[in-house]
Amino acid sequence: MNPTYDFEGQVALVTGAAMGMGLATARMFAEAGASVVLADFNEDALGKAVAALEAAGHKVLGVRCDVSNDAEVAVMVRRTVDTFGRLDAAFNNAGIQIPSAEVTDVPEADYERVMAVNLRGVWNCMQHELRQMQRQGSGTIVNCSSVGGLVGGPNLAAYHASKHGVIGLTKSAALENASRGIRVNAVCPGTIDTPMVAAMKEAKPEAMEGFIKRQPIGRLGRPEEIGAAVLWLCSDASSFILGHALAVDGGFTV
Ligand SMILES: NC(=O)c1ccc[n+]([C@@H]2O[C@H](COP(=O)([O-])OP(=O)(O)OC[C@H]3O[C@@H](n4cnc5c(N)ncnc54)[C@H](O)[C@@H]3O)[C@@H](O)[C@H]2O)c1
Repeated sequence: MNPTYDFEGQVALVTGAAMGMGLATARMFAEAGASVVLADFNEDALGKAVAALEAAGHKVLGVRCDVSNDAEVAVMVRRTVDTFGRLDAAFNNAGIQIPSAEVTDVPEADYERVMAVNLRGVWNCMQHELRQMQRQGSGTIVNCSSVGGLVGGPNLAAYHASKHGVIGLTKSAALENASRGIRVNAVCPGTIDTPMVAAMKEAKPEAMEGFIKRQPIGRLGRPEEIGAAVLWLCSDASSFILGHALAVDGGFTV
Protein backbone atom coordinates (compact mmCIF):
# COMPACT_ATOMS: atom_id res chain seq x y z
CA MET A 1 0.00 0.00 0.00
CA ASN A 2 1.65 3.26 -1.08
CA PRO A 3 -0.68 6.26 -1.13
CA THR A 4 1.43 9.29 -1.93
CA TYR A 5 -0.23 11.76 0.43
CA ASP A 6 1.89 14.53 1.89
CA PHE A 7 1.09 15.50 5.49
CA GLU A 8 4.46 17.20 6.08
CA GLY A 9 4.07 19.97 8.67
CA GLN A 10 0.62 18.72 9.70
CA VAL A 11 -0.56 17.24 13.00
CA ALA A 12 -2.74 14.13 13.13
CA LEU A 13 -4.52 12.62 16.13
CA VAL A 14 -5.69 8.99 16.19
CA THR A 15 -7.72 7.43 19.02
CA GLY A 16 -7.61 3.70 19.69
CA ALA A 17 -4.13 3.92 18.16
CA ALA A 18 -2.39 1.19 20.14
CA MET A 19 -3.41 -1.61 17.77
CA GLY A 20 -5.62 -2.58 14.85
CA MET A 21 -6.70 -0.04 12.25
CA GLY A 22 -5.87 2.87 14.58
CA LEU A 23 -2.22 1.86 14.78
CA ALA A 24 -2.03 1.21 11.01
CA THR A 25 -3.51 4.66 10.32
CA ALA A 26 -1.22 6.40 12.81
CA ARG A 27 1.79 4.74 11.13
CA MET A 28 0.56 5.80 7.68
CA PHE A 29 0.08 9.44 8.81
CA ALA A 30 3.61 9.39 10.26
CA GLU A 31 5.08 7.87 7.09
CA ALA A 32 3.31 10.64 5.13
CA GLY A 33 5.18 13.26 7.19
CA ALA A 34 2.67 14.19 9.93
CA SER A 35 3.44 14.62 13.60
CA VAL A 36 1.12 12.07 15.16
CA VAL A 37 -0.61 11.82 18.53
CA LEU A 38 -1.53 8.24 19.44
CA ALA A 39 -4.26 8.04 22.09
CA ASP A 40 -5.46 4.85 23.78
CA PHE A 41 -6.53 3.63 27.21
CA ASN A 42 -4.36 0.49 27.00
CA GLU A 43 -1.13 1.94 28.38
CA ASP A 44 1.08 -1.10 27.74
CA ALA A 45 0.09 -1.48 24.11
CA LEU A 46 0.25 2.30 23.61
CA GLY A 47 3.81 2.43 24.98
CA LYS A 48 4.91 -0.29 22.54
CA ALA A 49 3.21 1.40 19.57
CA VAL A 50 4.79 4.78 20.36
CA ALA A 51 8.23 3.22 20.87
CA ALA A 52 8.01 1.43 17.50
CA LEU A 53 7.10 4.61 15.63
CA GLU A 54 9.79 6.62 17.45
CA ALA A 55 12.38 3.98 16.60
CA ALA A 56 11.41 4.41 12.93
CA GLY A 57 12.24 8.12 13.26
CA HIS A 58 8.72 9.54 13.40
CA LYS A 59 7.50 12.53 15.47
CA VAL A 60 4.94 11.02 17.83
CA LEU A 61 3.30 11.60 21.21
CA GLY A 62 1.43 8.94 23.19
CA VAL A 63 -1.48 10.07 25.37
CA ARG A 64 -3.33 7.72 27.71
CA CYS A 65 -7.00 8.55 27.24
CA ASP A 66 -10.34 6.85 27.70
CA VAL A 67 -12.48 8.49 25.01
CA SER A 68 -15.65 7.92 27.05
CA ASN A 69 -14.27 10.37 29.67
CA ASP A 70 -14.75 13.98 28.56
CA ALA A 71 -12.10 15.38 30.92
CA GLU A 72 -9.47 12.97 29.55
CA VAL A 73 -10.43 13.86 25.97
CA ALA A 74 -10.02 17.56 26.78
CA VAL A 75 -6.51 16.85 28.06
CA MET A 76 -5.75 14.74 24.95
CA VAL A 77 -6.54 17.64 22.62
CA ARG A 78 -4.81 20.20 24.85
CA ARG A 79 -1.61 18.10 24.95
CA THR A 80 -1.76 17.72 21.16
CA VAL A 81 -1.83 21.49 20.70
CA ASP A 82 0.69 22.19 23.49
CA THR A 83 3.14 19.74 21.92
CA PHE A 84 2.71 20.26 18.19
CA GLY A 85 0.99 23.67 18.01
CA ARG A 86 -2.18 22.72 16.10
CA LEU A 87 -4.52 19.90 15.01
CA ASP A 88 -5.06 19.26 11.31
CA ALA A 89 -6.51 15.75 11.09
CA ALA A 90 -8.30 13.52 13.58
CA PHE A 91 -9.34 9.88 13.23
CA ASN A 92 -11.87 9.11 16.00
CA ASN A 93 -11.40 5.38 15.79
CA ALA A 94 -11.54 3.97 19.35
CA GLY A 95 -14.41 1.54 19.67
CA ILE A 96 -15.46 -1.71 21.26
CA GLN A 97 -17.66 -4.69 20.47
CA ILE A 98 -19.87 -6.38 23.10
CA PRO A 99 -20.95 -10.04 23.26
CA SER A 100 -23.70 -10.77 20.74
CA ALA A 101 -27.19 -11.28 22.13
CA GLU A 102 -30.79 -10.60 21.19
CA VAL A 103 -32.20 -7.22 22.24
CA THR A 104 -34.14 -8.91 25.05
CA ASP A 105 -30.98 -10.46 26.51
CA VAL A 106 -28.40 -7.65 26.36
CA PRO A 107 -27.26 -6.72 29.89
CA GLU A 108 -27.76 -3.02 30.64
CA ALA A 109 -24.07 -2.61 31.44
CA ASP A 110 -23.09 -3.85 27.95
CA TYR A 111 -25.50 -1.41 26.31
CA GLU A 112 -24.18 1.49 28.43
CA ARG A 113 -20.54 0.62 27.75
CA VAL A 114 -20.83 0.30 23.96
CA MET A 115 -22.71 3.61 23.76
CA ALA A 116 -20.22 5.31 26.11
CA VAL A 117 -17.20 4.36 24.01
CA ASN A 118 -18.51 4.17 20.45
CA LEU A 119 -20.98 7.07 20.44
CA ARG A 120 -20.24 9.30 23.45
CA GLY A 121 -16.52 8.79 22.73
CA VAL A 122 -16.84 10.21 19.21
CA TRP A 123 -19.01 13.04 20.59
CA ASN A 124 -16.40 13.94 23.24
CA CYS A 125 -13.58 13.89 20.69
CA MET A 126 -15.45 15.97 18.12
CA GLN A 127 -16.38 18.64 20.67
CA HIS A 128 -12.78 19.34 21.66
CA GLU A 129 -11.28 18.81 18.20
CA LEU A 130 -13.81 21.10 16.52
CA ARG A 131 -13.18 23.91 19.04
CA GLN A 132 -9.48 23.80 18.13
CA MET A 133 -10.14 23.51 14.39
CA GLN A 134 -12.60 26.41 14.52
CA ARG A 135 -9.88 28.56 16.16
CA GLN A 136 -7.56 27.58 13.28
CA GLY A 137 -10.22 27.85 10.56
CA SER A 138 -9.15 24.47 9.13
CA GLY A 139 -9.10 20.74 9.78
CA THR A 140 -10.48 17.35 8.84
CA ILE A 141 -12.17 14.74 11.04
CA VAL A 142 -12.91 11.12 10.15
CA ASN A 143 -15.14 9.20 12.55
CA CYS A 144 -15.06 5.42 12.64
CA SER A 145 -18.50 3.97 12.05
CA SER A 146 -18.92 0.49 10.54
CA VAL A 147 -20.99 -1.36 8.01
CA GLY A 148 -22.98 -1.81 11.23
CA GLY A 149 -23.78 1.91 10.87
CA LEU A 150 -25.41 1.27 7.50
CA VAL A 151 -27.37 -1.95 7.95
CA GLY A 152 -29.00 -3.87 10.79
CA GLY A 153 -27.49 -6.93 12.44
CA PRO A 154 -29.32 -9.57 14.42
CA ASN A 155 -27.85 -10.02 17.91
CA LEU A 156 -25.77 -6.86 17.50
CA ALA A 157 -28.41 -4.15 17.97
CA ALA A 158 -26.58 -1.99 20.51
CA TYR A 159 -23.31 -1.99 18.53
CA HIS A 160 -25.19 -1.19 15.31
CA ALA A 161 -27.14 1.57 17.03
CA SER A 162 -23.91 3.13 18.30
CA LYS A 163 -22.43 3.04 14.79
CA HIS A 164 -25.61 4.43 13.17
CA GLY A 165 -25.35 7.23 15.74
CA VAL A 166 -21.79 8.01 14.65
CA ILE A 167 -23.08 8.73 11.14
CA GLY A 168 -25.73 11.11 12.52
CA LEU A 169 -23.08 12.99 14.50
CA THR A 170 -20.82 13.07 11.42
CA LYS A 171 -23.44 14.47 9.04
CA SER A 172 -24.68 17.12 11.49
CA ALA A 173 -21.18 18.29 12.48
CA ALA A 174 -20.21 18.35 8.78
CA LEU A 175 -23.09 20.70 7.99
CA GLU A 176 -22.32 22.99 10.93
CA ASN A 177 -18.69 23.32 9.87
CA ALA A 178 -18.92 23.18 6.08
CA SER A 179 -18.34 26.91 5.62
CA ARG A 180 -15.52 27.08 8.19
CA GLY A 181 -12.84 25.17 6.26
CA ILE A 182 -13.48 22.02 8.30
CA ARG A 183 -14.63 18.73 6.78
CA VAL A 184 -16.13 15.86 8.80
CA ASN A 185 -16.65 12.39 7.28
CA ALA A 186 -16.95 8.78 8.44
CA VAL A 187 -15.53 5.45 7.36
CA CYS A 188 -17.62 2.29 7.55
CA PRO A 189 -15.26 -0.69 7.64
CA GLY A 190 -16.38 -4.18 6.74
CA THR A 191 -14.73 -7.04 8.64
CA ILE A 192 -11.05 -6.15 9.02
CA ASP A 193 -8.24 -8.36 10.29
CA THR A 194 -7.47 -6.66 13.64
CA PRO A 195 -7.14 -7.89 17.25
CA MET A 196 -10.89 -7.15 17.70
CA VAL A 197 -11.76 -9.59 14.93
CA ALA A 198 -9.12 -12.12 16.07
CA ALA A 199 -11.02 -12.25 19.38
CA MET A 200 -14.32 -12.84 17.53
CA LYS A 201 -12.65 -15.50 15.35
CA GLU A 202 -11.45 -17.33 18.44
CA ALA A 203 -14.83 -17.11 20.20
CA LYS A 204 -16.96 -18.13 17.18
CA PRO A 205 -14.96 -19.44 14.20
CA GLU A 206 -18.10 -20.42 12.26
CA ALA A 207 -19.53 -16.91 12.57
CA MET A 208 -16.30 -15.54 11.09
CA GLU A 209 -16.67 -17.80 8.05
CA GLY A 210 -20.11 -16.24 7.61
CA PHE A 211 -18.68 -12.68 7.78
CA ILE A 212 -16.08 -13.52 5.12
CA LYS A 213 -18.73 -15.08 2.85
CA ARG A 214 -20.76 -11.86 3.08
CA GLN A 215 -17.80 -9.84 1.75
CA PRO A 216 -17.94 -10.52 -2.02
CA ILE A 217 -14.20 -9.85 -2.30
CA GLY A 218 -13.77 -13.15 -0.40
CA ARG A 219 -11.38 -12.11 2.36
CA LEU A 220 -11.02 -9.97 5.46
CA GLY A 221 -9.92 -6.36 4.96
CA ARG A 222 -6.47 -5.20 6.03
CA PRO A 223 -6.06 -2.37 8.58
CA GLU A 224 -4.01 -0.42 6.01
CA GLU A 225 -7.01 -0.45 3.65
CA ILE A 226 -8.91 1.59 6.25
CA GLY A 227 -5.86 3.80 6.79
CA ALA A 228 -5.71 4.55 3.07
CA ALA A 229 -9.34 5.70 3.09
CA VAL A 230 -8.77 7.84 6.19
CA LEU A 231 -5.69 9.55 4.72
CA TRP A 232 -7.62 10.23 1.51
CA LEU A 233 -10.54 11.75 3.46
CA CYS A 234 -8.06 13.94 5.39
CA SER A 235 -6.22 15.07 2.24
CA ASP A 236 -6.99 17.76 -0.30
CA ALA A 237 -7.76 14.95 -2.77
CA SER A 238 -11.21 14.77 -1.12
CA SER A 239 -11.66 18.54 -0.71
CA PHE A 240 -15.30 18.55 -1.99
CA ILE A 241 -16.44 15.63 0.20
CA LEU A 242 -18.13 16.17 3.56
CA GLY A 243 -20.69 14.43 5.71
CA HIS A 244 -20.04 11.22 3.77
CA ALA A 245 -20.12 7.71 5.26
CA LEU A 246 -17.64 5.78 3.12
CA ALA A 247 -18.09 2.00 3.08
CA VAL A 248 -14.71 0.26 2.91
CA ASP A 249 -16.10 -3.23 3.03
CA GLY A 250 -15.08 -5.52 0.15
CA GLY A 251 -18.61 -5.20 -1.21
CA PHE A 252 -20.49 -6.21 1.99
CA THR A 253 -23.14 -3.50 1.62
CA VAL A 254 -23.35 -3.60 -2.17
N1 LIG B 1 -12.26 -4.84 12.90
C1 LIG B 1 -13.41 -4.75 12.27
O1 LIG B 1 -13.81 -5.66 11.54
C2 LIG B 1 -14.26 -3.51 12.38
C3 LIG B 1 -15.33 -3.38 11.49
C4 LIG B 1 -16.11 -2.22 11.54
C5 LIG B 1 -15.78 -1.22 12.45
N2 LIG B 1 -14.75 -1.39 13.31
C6 LIG B 1 -14.46 -0.29 14.22
O2 LIG B 1 -13.12 0.14 13.98
C7 LIG B 1 -12.56 0.68 15.17
C8 LIG B 1 -11.23 0.01 15.45
O3 LIG B 1 -11.46 -1.38 15.51
P1 LIG B 1 -10.28 -2.44 15.55
O4 LIG B 1 -10.81 -3.66 14.91
O5 LIG B 1 -8.99 -1.83 15.10
O6 LIG B 1 -10.27 -2.68 17.14
P2 LIG B 1 -9.14 -3.25 18.12
O7 LIG B 1 -9.87 -3.80 19.30
O8 LIG B 1 -8.22 -4.14 17.39
O9 LIG B 1 -8.39 -1.90 18.56
C9 LIG B 1 -9.13 -0.88 19.19
C10 LIG B 1 -8.22 0.01 20.01
O10 LIG B 1 -9.06 0.96 20.66
C11 LIG B 1 -8.69 1.03 22.03
N3 LIG B 1 -9.84 1.44 22.83
C12 LIG B 1 -10.96 0.74 23.11
N4 LIG B 1 -11.76 1.44 23.91
C13 LIG B 1 -11.13 2.64 24.15
C14 LIG B 1 -11.47 3.77 24.91
N5 LIG B 1 -12.59 3.84 25.64
N6 LIG B 1 -10.60 4.83 24.90
C15 LIG B 1 -9.46 4.77 24.20
N7 LIG B 1 -9.07 3.69 23.48
C16 LIG B 1 -9.91 2.63 23.45
C17 LIG B 1 -8.19 -0.37 22.39
O11 LIG B 1 -7.34 -0.35 23.53
C18 LIG B 1 -7.46 -0.76 21.10
O12 LIG B 1 -6.11 -0.32 21.13
C19 LIG B 1 -13.64 0.48 16.24
O13 LIG B 1 -14.39 1.67 16.37
C20 LIG B 1 -14.50 -0.63 15.69
O14 LIG B 1 -15.80 -0.61 16.19
C21 LIG B 1 -13.99 -2.51 13.30
